[in-house]
Amino acid sequence: MLPPDDLLSMDAVRDPQGFFKRLREHDPAFWSNRHKVWILTGYHDVERIFQDRSMSTAQGIGALRKRMMAEHAELLKHAMSLLDGWMLFNDPPVHTRLRDPVRRSFSPAMVDRLVPRIERHAKTLLDGIKEKGEVDIVSGFAQPLTAMVICDLLGIELREREFLREWARDFGKLIYGASSRSQDYLNSVARAGDVFFERFRDRIAEKRASPSDDLLSLLLTASTAERWTEAEIIGACSMLLFAGHDTTSALLGSGVRAMLQHPDQLIRLRADLSLMPDAVEELLRFDGPSKTFIRVPVAPIEIGGHEIAAGQNLWLGILAADHDPAVFAEPERLNLRRSPNPHIAFGAGIHFCLGSALARSEAKVAFTGLLEQFPKLRLVEREHRWSPTVVDRFLLELPVHLN
Ligand code: HEM
Repeated sequence: MLPPDDLLSMDAVRDPQGFFKRLREHDPAFWSNRHKVWILTGYHDVERIFQDRSMSTAQGIGALRKRMMAEHAELLKHAMSLLDGWMLFNDPPVHTRLRDPVRRSFSPAMVDRLVPRIERHAKTLLDGIKEKGEVDIVSGFAQPLTAMVICDLLGIELREREFLREWARDFGKLIYGASSRSQDYLNSVARAGDVFFERFRDRIAEKRASPSDDLLSLLLTASTAERWTEAEIIGACSMLLFAGHDTTSALLGSGVRAMLQHPDQLIRLRADLSLMPDAVEELLRFDGPSKTFIRVPVAPIEIGGHEIAAGQNLWLGILAADHDPAVFAEPERLNLRRSPNPHIAFGAGIHFCLGSALARSEAKVAFTGLLEQFPKLRLVEREHRWSPTVVDRFLLELPVHLN
């Protein structure tokens, strides 16, 4: 009998690891009739395809782009132009042209410079909630912290963060809800594109007039050799904002949940917070923010004994790969001291996450601050609700008792 293959079913949204396990045990390269895609759930297959330079991400989003431009070119001109600047949805050589300036500017030194500010923001937020009995970690800590860090990264005023959060929510509809054709959907995506363009055109003019040591200022210089257009710079900012906001706050939410659900592990971590770097890696592996990412083979390819035709969509199950027993002993067990831990929560190959160092630093600061300030932190007993999307996994809320 075939296992269930609906990644958007309630069961799969609640427990994607269990869903992927059933698929992997049946066939690690599974043809889903429902989604009309191949779902890959074995670590070695997923890793190999990530590393395969002949795979396309542009073709994955290509059909959506074509349809949107054919039907709503004028309405969505800014929203679509933002997507054009997303390195993630481009193949070489365009991908290389868009990635290189960001890679050169977004250096480890830049992340190190941000750490004291991340610590200050975390402290301010934790001080702000400390008198409360119960708080939602997602909206009360994880989301504001990641939004503040993105503002610092790009050199944007902190008061812009409300705008950025709302923007990410509306623009996310384009990424997550691409099958919808309702006018409300189109209008909010169009508005998100227009507003972002307008705001960032102004920010760029300000940075050109008085540059600083932030990423946006550095990008303006670094991208001159690649002759980026203004639209490409704005598109790159939107990619960084989008890629850096939901993912990192998702890790903070699911990480706190996983730790609080495993008190034996948490006691050891609390006793020695220098174990935090390994703990963060395990939290990324155990219940990380990335569920599946898409690739499209440009020529026929064989995977697990299946002939896969050019143009067929592949969903690379990151969360599935990170629970493959062929690579991780007792993958369903949280082990905050797991070593080695070759998880692929940040992807692999040419699209490997450019924000991994920043995300790791944010997580270390956030978890350390939270555990130090609240020794009695525990979950409010309630069923947890997750984002109903194929790509990401994030908690909609995580109520906790602080004291
Ligand atoms: C825990 C947090 C994060 C996770 C789990 C994560 C995960 C990922 C993954 C899996 C990819 C590869 C997607 C693919 O190959 O299709 C990716 C790409 C990317 N990420 Fe992250 N990310 C995180 C945080 C960040 C942050 C904080 C930033 C920047 C502020 C960022 C910027 C990017 C960019 C620019 C790419 C595209 C790279 C390319 O296409 O060459 N990410 N991320």
